Amino acid sequence: MSRVPSLAEINSLNRAAFTSALGHLFEHSPWVADETWPWRPFRDAAHLHAALCATMRAESQKKQLALIRAHPDLAGRLAQQNKLTAESTREQASAGLTRLTDEELAVFQTNNAAYLARFGFPFIICARLNNRATILAAMQSRLGNSSEAEFQTALGEVEKIALLRLNDLLKTN
Ligand code: GUN
Repeated sequence: MSRVPSLAEINSLNRAAFTSALGHLFEHSPWVADETWPWRPFRDAAHLHAALCATMRAESQKKQLALIRAHPDLAGRLAQQNKLTAESTREQASAGLTRLTDEELAVFQTNNAAYLARFGFPFIICARLNNRATILAAMQSRLGNSSEAEFQTALGEVEKIALLRLNDLLKTN
């Protein structure tokens, strides 16, 4: 397969190759792609994305929680140590999170810790659709929400992250 696959190529892949090509769309959670393979063929990127999201939504809350927890904190310890996946590194950089002052970094880390302590999972927002200021504002306002609302918001943000990653994968087709 060429580096930038077409949808026709993706539709023709066996299960292992399909999972290998799309596994990274959901952070450290290739099971989403694996369980979506039987739903081929996909008409277009929107259809494929909808099928991936339906797989995620149909899974148990336990598995959804593990998926949410697989995401790194924004401007967190893994980012500081350059231990993020390639996609996560680009996402955090695009929101300006790799150019924070020590003071800004401390604010992020305090908010990340407060969010995790309240909900038991990390704060998820689609970094590429945001910037430092909108992320910090969302962190502060979302801390007041219920766990159930935040769980659903996190899944919605995971879907946005996956759509942008899918668009990158199919970019030149
Ligand atoms: N954690 C919170 N938001 C994001 C995001 O947009 N991308 C990644 N990889 N991790 C996150």
